Amino acid sequence: MNITYRELDENDYDTIKDVFGDIIKKYNLSYFREKSFTYGAFDGQKLVGIISVVVLPLLSPLVGEEAFINYVGVLSAYRRQGIGSRLMEMAEKWTKERELFQLRGWSSTYTVEAIMMANKLKYALAHSIIYDVDAPLDDKDKFIIGYNWVKRFD
Ligand SMILES: CC(C)(COP(=O)(O)OP(=O)(O)OC[C@H]1O[C@@H](n2cnc3c(N)ncnc32)[C@H](O)[C@@H]1OP(=O)(O)O)[C@@H](O)C(=O)NCCC(=O)NCCS
Repeated sequence: MNITYRELDENDYDTIKDVFGDIIKKYNLSYFREKSFTYGAFDGQKLVGIISVVVLPLLSPLVGEEAFINYVGVLSAYRRQGIGSRLMEMAEKWTKERELFQLRGWSSTYTVEAIMMANKLKYALAHSIIYDVDAPLDDKDKFIIGYNWVKRFD
């Protein structure tokens, strides 16, 4: 299968929404900002994979910026063929070129494939619990258990 990769922009919004849902809105429209990296994997004209990375400031006492993976996804029928890893590789190159501190993602323990991919790609994995800002106010279970997965390039 010949998969091609290219940068995505505003013109791809509807296609992205059709294939992966409204992940752009969900992640605060951060896809096409100046300090972001959004790439798609295509089988012919068909979008089959996506990665979106944004630059975030490091928290005190550190100074500088990191690259954070908002979303990485590959259509079910195209998984386990190296597409996710290739998208990650491109995001790593982008992070290195900008001399950012690290590339980081966060996945809930339910997203097994993402954690397994990060593990395969030699990311450091640190478990962490985050507050679910999207949970309804009356939902008692507002915390999500997951992993930060991080690779440093300095
Ligand atoms: C995570 C995801 C992007 C991986 O995409 P992919 O194209 O299948 O990834 P790759 O083919 O490059 O897999 C790389 C490695 O990850 C690991 N891996 C991926 N899926 C796995 C699974 N279901 N079980 C165990 N290991 C898995 C394997 O080690 C694999 O290497 P191998 O096939 O040589 O054994 C894809 O599974 C996906 O879209 N999942 C749903 C969306 C999601 O959870 N996104 C993360 C939220 S940010």
